[in-house]
Amino acid sequence: VKKEIVMGGIRPTGFLHLGNYFGALRNFVRMQDEYPCFFMLADLHSLTTHPDTKELKNNIHRVLAEHLASGLNPDKCALYCQSHVFETAELYLYLNMMSMVGELEKTPTFKDKVRQHPQNVNSGLLTYPVLQAADILLHRAHLVPVGKDQEQHLEMARNIAGRFNHRYGDVFPEPVAFNFGSELVKVPSLDGAGKMSKSENQYATLYLSDPDDLIRKKVMKATTDSGPKEPNTPKPDYIENLFLLMKLVSTPEVVQKFEADYNACTIRYGDMKKQLAEDMVNFISPIREKAAAIQQDTEYLKKVMVQGAEKARVSAQATMKVVREAMGL
Ligand code: ADP
Ligand code: NA
Repeated sequence: VKKEIVMGGIRPTGFLHLGNYFGALRNFVRMQDEYPCFFMLADLHSLTTHPDTKELKNNIHRVLAEHLASGLNPDKCALYCQSHVFETAELYLYLNMMSMVGELEKTPTFKDKVRQHPQNVNSGLLTYPVLQAADILLHRAHLVPVGKDQEQHLEMARNIAGRFNHRYGDVFPEPVAFNFGSELVKVPSLDGAGKMSKSENQYATLYLSDPDDLIRKKVMKATTDSGPKEPNTPKPDYIENLFLLMKLVSTPEVVQKFEADYNACTIRYGDMKKQLAEDMVNFISPIREKAAAIQQDTEYLKKVMVQGAEKARVSAQATMKVVREAMGL
């Protein structure tokens, strides 16, 4: 087992989608065998945009079941719920003093969220990257498996850690974004517009919980055109996105076949989407079935979270002891 500590998290705000899976969860599963790992269901982060907590417990159980169904093993990592580890809140408070309002206001994700939630621009939204830094630094983590959309938050976590170290002494490593491939992943949306996310367009996002027929329907609705007219035409974004999705779930041979067809101007997008739909179904349905079964066993899910919180708090308390000493508190 390597020495670098890993920290990752996903918000339990709904169903997990393919972006969460390929940006974060797939890396979590691979990393649990090689590194000491902390993985968290970020329920406190959910409160910034989802203050109504009626559905939160259910969502936590479902998302936890989806983590387990994807292959996370609670004996190989600390798998916990953020609000169970109270030390997070204390570190968040100290780190707020290391965070600059000007920098936070410039974060693109803050601007996006203001646009999406104009009736609830709370300061938790603004300080979201500070809470994220607290999650990571609480375990003095080095590696943070995230999708491309989180790159800038990681830079802020490094700035915050650097300021703390500069003022109070060397306590925190400077964490970096991590993906097993060479680059961070951005899973595109099926409507050709930006990244896949919990979206208002019900056909743009593939969820790990989608039934087979819905997966097929969503893929078949993806935008295409009549195909390239000349060999080796650059792909428009919506076509490039279909290829990107195909690379995630189809075999290299299948991808190569359609690339060749594209370049020879013989591609039939109907066939390509049918193939992509079947490969998606084969990828998603075993995870969906497993998650549905695990989700029934709420006693087991609670046990996993209790065990995870115990492990996470041992690490958190050790860090907070060092932090308070460094700060002279
Ligand atoms: P969401 O953006 O759906 O609310 P979170 O903010 O909780 O989800 O993000 C959880 C993880 O999923 C993060 O590591 C994020 O980078 C990753 N992620 C979300 N959407 C995508 C995507 N389209 N492509 C790659 N990674 C993604
Ligand atoms: Na995100």
